[in-house]
Amino acid sequence: MVAAAVTPMVERAQEQLFPEGVVLVTRRDLAGGAELFPEELQAMARATPTRQHEFALGRCCAREALALLGGPRVPIPVGRFRDPVWPFGYVGSITHCQGFCAVAVARTSPSGYPAIRGIGLDTEPAASLPEELTGVVCSEKECTWLASRQGDGMPWDRLFFCAKESVYKCLFPTTHRFFEFRDMGVQFDPEHGSFDVMLPSLYDSPSHLSGRYAIRDGMLLIATTWMEENACP
Ligand SMILES: CC(C)(COP(=O)(O)OP(=O)(O)OC[C@H]1O[C@@H](n2cnc3c(N)ncnc32)[C@H](O)[C@@H]1OP(=O)(O)O)[C@@H](O)C(=O)NCCC(=O)NCCS
Repeated sequence: MVAAAVTPMVERAQEQLFPEGVVLVTRRDLAGGAELFPEELQAMARATPTRQHEFALGRCCAREALALLGGPRVPIPVGRFRDPVWPFGYVGSITHCQGFCAVAVARTSPSGYPAIRGIGLDTEPAASLPEELTGVVCSEKECTWLASRQGDGMPWDRLFFCAKESVYKCLFPTTHRFFEFRDMGVQFDPEHGSFDVMLPSLYDSPSHLSGRYAIRDGMLLIATTWMEENACP
């Protein structure tokens, strides 16, 4: 392994965003050093320093999450569609924004827990989307719901965006399918900090998924988990 100019772990958090069996590692501090494997360094050879930094931060969090699960210390290569390639028997998701990074990893068959087929994680600033994006991200039904929540202090339009991105990240490594934002129907449950997602019926995707969201330190963190019970019909 080769040392890259990024930092040791500084923050770790286990939140209730995911079911039991999923490890979540978060990190903010970019000062210090981290280790990248040659293929990871190679993937970032032409990237800007900022991008190299966030990438290394993600790999660092990912390896710590794997270690917490008793997993191997291995490279996490970049897939053909930018998807992180997890070691056999593990699934995970990486997100970073404005110096904040979060990574969730799980064993696909954790002992004592239901099997997990995919994980999606997304983070964004807890602020409204630019107005012109709302109609791209949200269906008419979702826009009607947004209007009913106006003034309640929550950036629901951004939450729709993040929820759909997290669903995409959750499914893509298994299904290799692209979705349009408006292909998915998201319904939030503000009382419980959760949401349900309806998906188009495709033979290799579940027809519904669910997830949870939280706001901490001005950042939205939103998580989708594809459990075996959501397996496709
Ligand atoms: C992939 C995408 C979701 C990343 O989201 P983002 O907000 O730009 O950035 P984030 O920091 O939250 O996530 C980036 C991480 O997502 C992961 N990722 C990228 N492509 C992925 C994919 N196809 N599948 C799963 N995870 C992926 C990577 O780990 C990446 O970090 P890394 O490159 O350092 O490893 C987004 O850029 C994208 O390509 N979306 C296209 C699909 C889309 O938007 N469809 C409509 C939504 S349904």
